[in-house]
This record gives sequence, structure tokens and C-alpha cells, in this order.
Amino acid sequence: MKLGELVKNPKGFKVTGIYRVSRFEVKTARNGKAYGDCLVSDYSFEVPAKYWDIPAEGVALFQQQGILRLEATLDYFKDSPQLTIDNVYLPQPEEIDQSLQELGMMAPRSLEDMVNELTDIIAQVSHEGLRALLVAMFIEDKSFSERFKRHPGAVKNHHAYIGGLLEHTLELTVGAIDHCNRNNKINKDILVAAALVHDIGKVQEIELDAFGMGIGFTREGKLLRHISLGIEMLEPFCRAVGLEKEIALMLKHCILSHHGQAEWGSPVEPMFLEAELLHYLDNLSAKTEQFSRETERLEPGAFNRSPTLRREIYRPSIDPTL
Ligand SMILES: [Fe+2]
Ligand SMILES: [Fe+2]
Repeated sequence: MKLGELVKNPKGFKVTGIYRVSRFEVKTARNGKAYGDCLVSDYSFEVPAKYWDIPAEGVALFQQQGILRLEATLDYFKDSPQLTIDNVYLPQPEEIDQSLQELGMMAPRSLEDMVNELTDIIAQVSHEGLRALLVAMFIEDKSFSERFKRHPGAVKNHHAYIGGLLEHTLELTVGAIDHCNRNNKINKDILVAAALVHDIGKVQEIELDAFGMGIGFTREGKLLRHISLGIEMLEPFCRAVGLEKEIALMLKHCILSHHGQAEWGSPVEPMFLEAELLHYLDNLSAKTEQFSRETERLEPGAFNRSPTLRREIYRPSIDPTL
């Protein structure tokens, strides 16, 4: 059960499930006994939890694992939900990916399906140099492609779950292809290649926990950010496939300018059509995910201030599927 659903229940409600646990500490209660204090979270919610009289095996599990199967009871402390952990178990490896998906901590689509779609898109790029570059990067470079496949799209902002970077990249690329099919003034191969490589630097920018969720930025990420890291990562592939200078320049410019303006992290503004479109497609994918995640937390007809979107947002009371 997602935590957003769980906290709608009354005190004493029992829950069993696999959750992410973090900030675990052993503390001493007033009666002198040890207890475990931690945060239990899924993609949208976090709830503080206490494990009274925690046994030594429990301490070891919490210290070694970031995802655990918990049996817990819902409680309220000063009107805020809190969990009392009754038992803790190590989940089976095969349960983990499915649980991550149920908790919204992994992309809703299967990673394999998304990789197949990516491979098909690359095969349809008609410019030989660009296709060779994309094959070398996303198919032949196993160390990069395996990381790219599971990497989150962000630590917090959007697509911040396992497989989120691939999902976001495909959203942009499919949107790009769709737009090109309705407009013959666009260089489709450049836009598709730019969409595929625009965020590759995130693989080096975001630091991951044991399960592959983003927990912060790496040293390279803090010092260089994903736009410059992406340019650095692209360069050896351009050289290896002997990409024409003008095409390589255009691709690099698309990466550099995809955030649109200096204030949002781009050192240059988009200077040609494909770069401008990439910026809008990137924003479109990010905003779609942010709005749908933020409204999921709201009751129909309710408003809330969104720190990510920096404005008040509203969840319409009509069913979005109608
Ligand atoms: Fe980006
Ligand atoms: Fe992006």
C-alpha cells in the first residue's frame, strides 16, 4: 500500500509491505531500552517510524539495507502520522523490483520494453554518423547502457525513480518524432539524436543508493553538472565514429542549451530550431510528470503549494480519464 493511502487510515491500522527506510538511528528510550528511529518512504510520502525494543538482528537489517519488508501499526503523534514497526524482514530479491514499481520508485513501464523502444528508434535514424554514434553509446557501450537503463531522471525534481532517465528520454524522443512527422522544416535526425543524448551527463551527476535511487550529487555532479558532463561524455563517441564537425557541434549545442537560459543552467540559449524544440520537449516531459505526481497527493478539488513547481496547484474534481 502506498503511504499516501496508508495515512488516510485511523490509528491502529496494520500494514505489511516493502518500503524504503532511511536515516536509521538507534536511540535510548526513557525506560533505558534501545529503540530504532527511521524514516519510511515511497516515491511521494515519508512517515517517521519507531521500532521499540529493537532486537539486535533488527538493528543489523536496518543498518545494511535500504529496502525492507515491514509489519507496522499506524499511530498519530500530535496529529502527524507515525509508524510503530512490529517486525522487519529481508525481502526476496525477486520481490524488490516489483515492490519498487508498486511504490512508484521505479518507472511504471518495464525497463526491457523501454530499451527495445530505444533500440528501434536508433535503428530508424537515417544519418549514418549519428546512427553509429547512438549505437556505439546506447547499445555497444555496455557499462554506460546498463547504468543509463536504470538511472533516475533526477534526485527530486522529475522522473526521480529507477528507470526515470530512460523514460524521460523516450518521452522527449517520441514527442520529437511526432512533431517532425507534422513539420518537414525540422532536421529529424538531429532532433532525435539530441533528445537521446541531452541528459546523458546525469549518469555521472547523480549519486545513487544501493537500490539505484538518487540520494544527492556526486563530486563531478556538484562541480560540473550534467550539461557539461554530457558534453565531455559525448566527445569520445563523436571522435570514434568520425562524426562531421558541424553535426557534432549542433549536437553539443543542443545539450548545452536544453535548459533554455543561464538561470536554469544553460550557458547558451538555443540558437537553431532543433535546439529550441529540444528545450520545449524537455520542459513538456518534466512538467507533465511533476504535475501528475504533485496532484496525486491532493484530494480532488483541493489546492496546495508546490515547492517543485513554485506555485499553488489545483487538482480538478473531474476524473482525468473522462
Ligand atoms: Fe537536463
Ligand atoms: Fe531532460
